[in-house]
Amino acid sequence: MLSEKMTKALNEQVAFELYSGYIYWSMAGWCADRGLNGAANWMMMQAGEELFHAHKMNAYVIERGGRAKMLKIDEPRFEWGSLLEVFQNALEHERSVTSRINNLVDLAVAERDHASTTFLQWYVTEQVEEESNAENIINQLKLIGNDGRGLLMIDRELATRTFTWPAPAADAT
Ligand code: FEO
Repeated sequence: MLSEKMTKALNEQVAFELYSGYIYWSMAGWCADRGLNGAANWMMMQAGEELFHAHKMNAYVIERGGRAKMLKIDEPRFEWGSLLEVFQNALEHERSVTSRINNLVDLAVAERDHASTTFLQWYVTEQVEEESNAENIINQLKLIGNDGRGLLMIDRELATRTFTWPAPAADAT
């Protein structure tokens, strides 16, 4: 069974993952408003991943006998200056998620909660990918600078991103 402290920390992270989804939905809206439909798609797919992160963690709390509590979700940022700034903000956010996941692992280790330590490894690995994805796009956006054709090419590439909600068997919940 989860400790009260671990339950509280995981419930807070569930809300933060939902907040992440909110942020990416907001970014998708900003991109779509500027005709960057590929980037909007990328953000929608990212938001889908965030909702899954929240779902998976909430299911774990319940499975381990913790009391799942739905906490308040903050309103995300609404405006950005450029697509580069959007992705820089996304990277900054992902780094804060990584730091929170690391804190959760530290707590699990301190409590000798081996099941939670193992469960959280999935998120540790996921964060490596999340940061790397944003970094790669930032590098491409920096390369093209103010070149409109380059921006359209990147937008076309971002349009190809997909996300499928994992089947229950692969859900590990
Ligand atoms: Fe769920 Fe982007 O971290």
